[in-house]
Amino acid sequence: MTRRPFMAGNWKMHLTLSEATELAGEVRRLTSRSRGVDIALVPPFPYLCAVHEKIEESGIAVGAQDCDPRQFGAYTSGVSAPMLASVGCRYVLVGHSERRREFGDTDEVVNQKLLSVLGAGLVPVLCIGETKDERQSGRTKEVLDRQLSKGLQGVNAENIGGTVIAYEPVWAIGTGEVATPAMAQDAHAAIRQWIAMKLGDSVAEAIRLQYGGSVKASNVDGLMACPDIDGALVGGASLTAAEFARIVLFEK
Ligand code: PGA
Repeated sequence: MTRRPFMAGNWKMHLTLSEATELAGEVRRLTSRSRGVDIALVPPFPYLCAVHEKIEESGIAVGAQDCDPRQFGAYTSGVSAPMLASVGCRYVLVGHSERRREFGDTDEVVNQKLLSVLGAGLVPVLCIGETKDERQSGRTKEVLDRQLSKGLQGVNAENIGGTVIAYEPVWAIGTGEVATPAMAQDAHAAIRQWIAMKLGDSVAEAIRLQYGGSVKASNVDGLMACPDIDGALVGGASLTAAEFARIVLFEK
């Protein structure tokens, strides 16, 4: 089976509104000749509508960086999955390591968020990955196993939808230290194997696994050549239109 590559640009807490719309317009222009690749821009909440408008009818989708697991209610500052659906979002990141580290998102909370994203008819991108310490002490697979089993609690072959898993080794995020293609492939293969064991071969064959952590125009081709890497979740390099466009237009 061939999985459609999926490239997403996570803008994190960067840019003003005018910079965000300009970047979206540039990405649209520079990726217009891309074929057979799904693209998503993931701006901060306040820019979702404006970015959505800017890329409408281009085939580029909009994603959100997080959501509250609840639906509606008296939860000041909360932004829920149904709200995100109503402004045209298609994807929602859950469990990004910066959310886990800076905002205290536990595996349980990540799971609630993922279920609420699925419930709203959107596509969750579940982010998992080990820290440097965990890798150095040989616990990478154990950490991935925990994050997958807790993060995907209550998910089965019927309700998993188009769920995407992003493998983002924490030590590679924003550090310029990218995992080698061999290291990334090894982790991706382990994730796919886990999915096959718990959710069956056909889910494992179809699910898209992104690599994240210092992906750039200069290293994307080597990563995308790995059989189990189906796309990239890009942080820093997605803030420059030409750089991100080259990532989207990776060479096979
Ligand atoms: P980076 O971020 O590309 O800047 O390393 C990746 C991410 O956090 O998704």
